[in-house]
Amino acid sequence: MQRVFSGIQPTGVPTLGNYLGAIRNWVPMQDDHECIFCVVDLHALTVWQEPKGFGAQTREMAAALLACGLDPQKCTLFVQSHVHAHARLAWIFNCVARLGWLNRMTQFKDKAGKDREAVSSGLYVYPNLMAADIHAYHAVKVPVGDDQKQHLELANDIAQKFNHDYGVEFFPTITPLIQGVAARVMSLRDGTKKMSKSDASDASRINLTDTADEIAQKIRRAKTDPEPLPDHVSGLEDRPEARNLVGILAAITDSMPENVLREHGGKGFGAFKEVLTEALVAHLSPIREEMARLLQDHGALDAALRLGADRAAAIADPIVTEAERIVGFLPR
Ligand code: TYM
Repeated sequence: MQRVFSGIQPTGVPTLGNYLGAIRNWVPMQDDHECIFCVVDLHALTVWQEPKGFGAQTREMAAALLACGLDPQKCTLFVQSHVHAHARLAWIFNCVARLGWLNRMTQFKDKAGKDREAVSSGLYVYPNLMAADIHAYHAVKVPVGDDQKQHLELANDIAQKFNHDYGVEFFPTITPLIQGVAARVMSLRDGTKKMSKSDASDASRINLTDTADEIAQKIRRAKTDPEPLPDHVSGLEDRPEARNLVGILAAITDSMPENVLREHGGKGFGAFKEVLTEALVAHLSPIREEMARLLQDHGALDAALRLGADRAAAIADPIVTEAERIVGFLPR
């Protein structure tokens, strides 16, 4: 079975973007891959996290992943800071990756914005830690949304340079899996911006914890244009908001934009938004309820995460110990 790794930051409740772009694609992979999924709190710390709520947020993200269908019997689910191999290998990768490579990372530029001098140095070396996450397990497939593509290319560059510099074939090439119509779900307020947990406006996103009423209200208020829906996908060009809503309905109903337009082409957005709301509520309500149920028992959740961390460490520790031997550290 091929080994799969992916991660998600506990910086808030997962959005519909996280769900359709990543989490939902992780669920079926549990049946035919050796899956390792991680709540990446070390990554979240690259921007300020209030210590009081940070642990609870991490637990909530784990509950959300379980509610979406991750099954600890079938995959390894754990918290990144519980497995020290990530930080150990990240340091080695900090010394392999070149500054020029990191300077090209568009996500750093977006996140740092005009405040480049004031952001943490962790935010800058973030992609090296991400490479370490994957390579600490010798994982070969990484299911993510479209925004992670450049980071995964960097992870391959780092592995290749490590192998070349030390004359080994130690880290394998990874294949990004960026799937389907929902690889990039856009903001409900601006169809040219990614839907994000960190957007200042809660109206820009659907959270997996939103109630039916909240979903209905957000979809009703979602930005659109005055034209009815086209009959064909070519009519969605230059209509980012229309394309986004059609893409979301296609993804949530396991269909394709062509089919959605075949059924709803010619309709105004009022009628279409009702159909979309109904589909979203039907799909997301059971997840919200299951998440609330799981969060009633912190003890059981934390025990599952401890077990996951033990399993993850059993895989990653020998791999990272071998990487440390390859670079020539004195064994203890
Ligand atoms: P994060 O926490 O920002 O997002 C988790 C996953 O959700 C996807 N995603 C989206 N997909 C479609 N449309 C959107 N609007 C959208 N927003 C987010 C992301 O692409 C991602 O797959 N750096 C990563 C976490 C990470 C990781 C890793 C991933 C750390 N180490 C190793 C893979 C492998 C991140 O910040 O994801």
